[in-house]
This record gives sequence, structure tokens and C-alpha cells, in this order.
Amino acid sequence: MRVGVVGLGYVGLPLAVAFAAAGVEVLGVDLDEDKAEAIAAGRSYIEDVSDDALQAARPRLSVSSDYGALADVDAVLICVPTPLTSNREPDLAPLLGCARALGAVLRAGQLVVLESTTYPGTTRERVAPLLEATGLRAGVDFNLAFSPERVDPGRTDYTLANTPKVVGGLTDACGDRAEQLYRTVCAEVIRVATPEAAELTKLLENVFRAVNIALVNELALLTDRMGIDIWEVIDAASTKPYGFMRFEPGPGMGGHCLPVDPFYLSWRAREFDMAAEFIELAGKINQQMPYHCVAKLQRTLNDRGQAVRGARIALLGVSYKPGVGDVRESPALKIIKLLRELGADVVYHDPYVASLEVFAMRSEPLEQALAGADLVLIVTAHPGIDYDAIAARAACLLDLRGVVAAPGSPQVVRL
Ligand SMILES: NC(=O)c1ccc[n+]([C@@H]2O[C@H](COP(=O)([O-])OP(=O)(O)OC[C@H]3O[C@@H](n4cnc5c(N)ncnc54)[C@H](O)[C@@H]3O)[C@@H](O)[C@H]2O)c1
Repeated sequence: MRVGVVGLGYVGLPLAVAFAAAGVEVLGVDLDEDKAEAIAAGRSYIEDVSDDALQAARPRLSVSSDYGALADVDAVLICVPTPLTSNREPDLAPLLGCARALGAVLRAGQLVVLESTTYPGTTRERVAPLLEATGLRAGVDFNLAFSPERVDPGRTDYTLANTPKVVGGLTDACGDRAEQLYRTVCAEVIRVATPEAAELTKLLENVFRAVNIALVNELALLTDRMGIDIWEVIDAASTKPYGFMRFEPGPGMGGHCLPVDPFYLSWRAREFDMAAEFIELAGKINQQMPYHCVAKLQRTLNDRGQAVRGARIALLGVSYKPGVGDVRESPALKIIKLLRELGADVVYHDPYVASLEVFAMRSEPLEQALAGADLVLIVTAHPGIDYDAIAARAACLLDLRGVVAAPGSPQVVRL
């Protein structure tokens, strides 16, 4: 069996490596030639794939930026980005570009599975017609399915192998074929009746998180005014053995998924005369959080008789979550922008992000970043950093992640 994976990013590269590790011949296709070169050299650019794993996969993993070779594979898995436009509407350009290019080389008998997160109806209404430009019919001459990727970058307890994989085929035969394929690398495959059900499953998972995070963020805004410690409340509520699930407030949502995917659904809902109000409200609250955090920082300095202008701020963690170097939609970017506009002298330390081109900044070594800081700001709490020790000697520290264990200390302020 030969499998093609289109789009070798956070989703596609681990998937390609998993199939190669299972003994399948894999052809990776990515328009970014630098990525193809890195893979060919056995250099991984994704934290979840070690160089060793990539090198072990190399004998069965070939990479190209040309779709032509996909004509020879049995199945093609599409993992290209599905971002939003600047007006926050679905931007299907990479996906449609991919489907068009694939349509030019598709042949009878192949299986195509879309893994990119998208609104219900994309596989059937947008991808199938482009693939059918060949004259081949979806569900008749070739198989087509949707199977959402559930990877959580940086996570090691749940991976592709032990996270159930949801599959919805255009026809039963399409679903059977996709299920059989995924059984090579996944312990459990969950079948749903249609691609639309599979597309919506992924969005439900992400909307669920976005809405619950917004709920605790809204409570954090309220407890800030009420003078109640939100973290103490969440810790206490989490002791309930049933009926409560822990979510934590923070400086806002980042990454390719949570700040983006829910809006694919709210956009689609409008076509059905529905305003997806939970989604829109969650987006509004979550987008407000970086502004709230900067206002809180301003108040914290003010309480010490200091202004933001001219203050040296040591910002710890700029990626959107611990243990990864992905800065897409990271709230740290918004916070740096706002602090700079206020005249702060911002430096950052992030062991996973060497530089932020957009601000012409480089990560400083931890000690150098902390030296002389008027305020230490924890935005993303990476593992392996002793935040309590940092708090103990900081002039002032604002903890946006609730990781410092000494909330009673006068120099420590929490979100
Ligand atoms: N990152 C995550 O945690 C995650 C988790 C689950 C699902 N997803 C979804 O998976 C999809 C991919 O996300 P990602 O984080 O891997 O993105 P990514 O940006 O890391 O990777 C996408 C890759 O596709 C390539 N590409 C873009 N257009 C292409 C084209 N037309 N043909 C070939 N290659 C092309 C890019 O060069 C890039 O390497 C998105 O729909 C995303 O929502 C992401």
C-alpha cells in the first residue's frame, strides 16, 4: 500500500511518519520546499516528531512539492491549512488549491480523505466537485471521506495511535475503505454515517473547549472586580467528582484550532438562518482577554507607582501553549503589541521560540530576560521552568496562568 499525505505541518508530518513507521510507503507533498528539504535531510520542524523518528521513517517516506506522483498512491490524506480571512471568514484557498491540483492527477480506485478542520458540507460540496473535474465520480469511481485530525501538539499520553479516529464516508464503501486504512495506525476507528457528521464532530469538540474557556475567562473578569481569586474557586470546584470539568482562564486562545475553527461553523450557520450565538459570544470574550491582561498589568504597575511607559517587562512564554513553539494566533503577540504601543520595553524568554520576526525580537536567555525587570509576565508556562523561584526574586510578577504557588506574596499578582 502507498499513502500520500498533502500538507506536512503539525498534522500531516506526524501522520506521514506514523504510516511510514507502520511499514506503509508514504509520499508527502508540500508546496513549501524548505519543509521538503528539511525532511529529506532528516530534520524535523515539528516537536511531536523527533529527528530520530523522522530518520527511522525516511526509507519509506519520500517528499515532493509536485502533485504528479500522487497518481501512483492508493490513498491521499489532505492536511492543508484551513485558516480565516482577515474578515474572519473561512479561507478555503489552500484546500481548494489542493483539491484542484489533486483533481488533475486523480485516478480511478483511489481513496481521498480530508483531515483539515472545516464546516459541514465542505467534503461533499467543495472538494468532491473539484476532484470530479477528472470525469471520475466520487463514491463510484473513487472513494471520498472526511476524518478529523485530533492531534494535540506536545501531548504524549494521547497520540494518533490511541486516540479514536472518527470517519465519515461519502458512501458506506468509502467509509469502509477509510476505516481499513486508519486501522493501520489507529487502535480504534469510530464510524459516523456521513462526512458532514464527521466534520461537525470536530467542530463540536473545538467549540466545546472555546465556550468553556470563555466561561471561565468571563468569570475571571468578574472575580477581578469582586476581589475573589478565580484559581482558588476553580481548584475548589474541581474537587466535585462528577458534573464539573476543569477549564482555566488565561490571556486568550491561540493556535490554529480554537481561535479559528468555531467561526467556520458560525459562518456556515448563517446560511441556515441561524446565529451561532454561543460561538460568537465565546469568541468575543476570548478575544478580549489580552486587553484585560494588559489593563491588569497597567494597574499592577500603577499600584507600585510605576507607569508602563519605560518599564522593563520580561515576558515568559510566547507560544500559544506549553511545550510547543507554535505562535499562530498566540495571545502573547497581541500583548507584546499592546505593551509596545504603551511604551514598555518588552523582552521575552521562550525556549521553544528563538525569534519573533514580526517584532524583530529574539528570545533572551532566562537570566538575561529577568535581569532588571520591573515586572515579570507569565503568558505561557513552559515545562522545566521554576516559576516559584522566579516569583521569589522578582520585583513584581503577573501570573496569567496560575502556575505560581505563592499567591499570598505581595509581589505576585494573578489573573
Ligand atoms: N495544529 C493542530 O493542532 C491541529 C489539530 C487538529 C486539526 N488541525 C487542522 O489540520 C489542518 C492542518 O493544520 P496544521 O496545523 O497541520 O497546519 P500547518 O500550517 O502546520 O501545515 C499545513 C501544511 O500545508 C502546506 N500547504 C498549504 N497549502 C498547500 C497546498 N495547496 N498543497 C500542499 N501543501 C500545502 C503548508 O506549506 C504547510 O506545511 C487544519 O485544517 C487544522 O485546522 C490542526
